[in-house]
Amino acid sequence: MRGDGLQAGATTVVGEGGGETVRVYVCAPPQDARLFVSALPPGNPRGVEVVSFGSDASTLEQDVQQLGVTVVVVSPQVRNYSDELVARLSRWPDLLVVVGLAPPTGDWARQLTTAGAIDVLRTPVTDRTIDVFVSSVPGWLNRAARMRAGPGWVAALPAQAAQAVQAMGYRQGVWVFWSPKGGAGKTTMACNVAALLGVVAQRKTLLVDANMNGGHVDLHMGVETDTTLASLAYLYHARGELLPRHVQEHVAPWRAGASLDILPGIQRVEQAGEEPLRGRQGQAFVQGLLDVAGRMYDFVVVDVGSSVNSPVHRTVLAQADGVVVIATPDRAALVDTKTTLETLESVMGLERSRYTLVVNMWTDQAGLRRGDITRFVGLSEAGLVPYETTGGMLLAVNTGEPFVLMNLKASDPRTQQVVDALAGIAARVYPPLDTIWQHRGRPVKRKTGLFDRLFG
Ligand SMILES: Nc1ncnc2c1ncn2[C@@H]1O[C@H](COP(=O)(O)OP(=O)(O)OP(=O)(O)O)[C@@H](O)[C@H]1O
Ligand SMILES: [Mg+2]
Repeated sequence: MRGDGLQAGATTVVGEGGGETVRVYVCAPPQDARLFVSALPPGNPRGVEVVSFGSDASTLEQDVQQLGVTVVVVSPQVRNYSDELVARLSRWPDLLVVVGLAPPTGDWARQLTTAGAIDVLRTPVTDRTIDVFVSSVPGWLNRAARMRAGPGWVAALPAQAAQAVQAMGYRQGVWVFWSPKGGAGKTTMACNVAALLGVVAQRKTLLVDANMNGGHVDLHMGVETDTTLASLAYLYHARGELLPRHVQEHVAPWRAGASLDILPGIQRVEQAGEEPLRGRQGQAFVQGLLDVAGRMYDFVVVDVGSSVNSPVHRTVLAQADGVVVIATPDRAALVDTKTTLETLESVMGLERSRYTLVVNMWTDQAGLRRGDITRFVGLSEAGLVPYETTGGMLLAVNTGEPFVLMNLKASDPRTQQVVDALAGIAARVYPPLDTIWQHRGRPVKRKTGLFDRLFG
């Protein structure tokens, strides 16, 4: 007997032309796997069959690979389950759907979907569960295929490269993007580097908008929240302490399945002048925030405003592990950069070892030579980002998607150069990103033809 929604799905999507079946692996405790196995044996007429099952997740990735399955049902109650495993499977290079199987109570469903599961079924497993499962498969496969073809989708690394990346050391830390001159690309750089660390490299990353003129990081990243740096500052002002829980409650996750959180900045400039962000109070708040967040995340990426008269900006600059100074190749900006650095050195005791230079909006037509810039400013160069001429950077801001994620697989070489340069800067922060970046564009393998059928 066929399930309700299956017939249409199976004939138009799954079963068309050659009786192609969807192969399923069930990784669940025996009592939850049993009905899947008995109701959907190989060769059954519903077009969806369980090819294998198990209650230990340690070989799941290997099994998925070897058995050529396109749907995995995974319960968090199996041995060796981890959210990371679900995250990796949800970013499988080939077409793969990960469905969670959650106990009826507790927060499992949210945990599974946050990790990357496309949907969640509840236990106990009944005939109805199996019917819902079978009829949902075509829709899930379509969604998984669309996600893979969409911008910003990054495949998990092949096992060997993932191991190599894991073995590489890196230093956690707070990184700030700053320029003494406005409009040099601080926000652009902070948002894109954070996206590279938190989305492409999947390291736990917090992007903070600490620009007291308003950095609009929320607009750049396409997030909307009521909680901001200002509301967190008010909370600290009222309580006199800042706990990880407070930070957690104020940040917004960028998207489900990504390791990137965002703390949007002040929404109105007058907030910068209010008690919680002013003077010593503002300074103590920022110190507390970077301390706490530095322990919660692998990387904290901060966008600040140009003015060093703001205690918030000054505190971020003083406390960051690395300061990336952004300069554009025009004489006024470079003179500004040089003199402000000299002032910081004498007033704040700036140590140049923490500072590096990124030249943004580079063009050969500016009449400057690369080496001259670093020599003039007195900082070593951490990267050079070409001037983006296709309009893609403005499009990114206007769509609220980080430029690098919109152009992971850019076909235009001019765009490619810019995203490669941004990835190079992020790799200074997190060196394994080089390896991850090389693997990012692996095309989805189409060995089953299912992808074409679903998506073509
Ligand atoms: N490499 C680049 N090529 C072309 N345009 C760029 C490049 N980098 C940044 N831009 C554009 O320049 C403008 C200013 O960038 P951004 O807002 O990041 O600067 P900012 O330093 O944060 O400015 P502010 O001082 O106002 O905070 C934006 O429109 C951005 O899209
Ligand atoms: Mg800005």
